[in-house]
Amino acid sequence: MAIPVLTIDGPSGAGKGTVSRLLAKKLGWHYLDSGSIYRSLAIGLLKKSVDLNNVAEVVNVAKAMVLEFDCGDELVVKLDGEDITAQLGLENIGNTASIIAAQPEVRRVLLQKQQDFRRQPGLVADGRDMGTVVFPDAENKVFLTASSIKRAERRYKQLKEKGIDANLSRLTEDIEERDRRDTERATAPLSMASGALFIDSSDMTIDAVIAEVLKLIR
Ligand code: DC
Repeated sequence: MAIPVLTIDGPSGAGKGTVSRLLAKKLGWHYLDSGSIYRSLAIGLLKKSVDLNNVAEVVNVAKAMVLEFDCGDELVVKLDGEDITAQLGLENIGNTASIIAAQPEVRRVLLQKQQDFRRQPGLVADGRDMGTVVFPDAENKVFLTASSIKRAERRYKQLKEKGIDANLSRLTEDIEERDRRDTERATAPLSMASGALFIDSSDMTIDAVIAEVLKLIR
């Protein structure tokens, strides 16, 4: 029997992570945070001081990296045996991930690592190209977005809560630049899969978004 997949794609900060994690829990399914795979590679590259323009070297690091995911209540990620969870959410890691993600060769190497998450009884997959490229045969697809201002405000609040200094207009600019890069790249750009349910979460609570998605599945 085909293993069911629910894909949730959209720009950064739309709430995909929170919504996907809660949905996976409700459904009793596995969870793939595909952005964390690109982020893990970014951490590995920065640690090894690899020139990001040297595609062959970036691909070598991508092929060699050993990732371990523990998707319990809190996601724990190990890269080559080292716990990198605390670094995953850093702004420079997200921006570096977005830069290397534009390379088709890099995406090709990371494709299988993402598809390996598809296990019984089902998978909730969150990213940019889950419904278009990684799991095109998924029966349930969602495109979750929000205005860039709302997304920057949410990020600002998260950072402040962690005691990290942040600047709202700088965050908005960063988000818009990342959107541009993720949407305009030639390979697997961020776009809505055909047949996907479009949700704009700008003025919605997390619970309302989850209720909307669950209607699709039932
Ligand atoms: O979802 P995120 O912010 O953790 O993702 C970080 C970057 O990784 C994002 O800006 C683009 C890249 N990415 C991607 O290209 N494809 C995915 N499926 C997930 C992330």
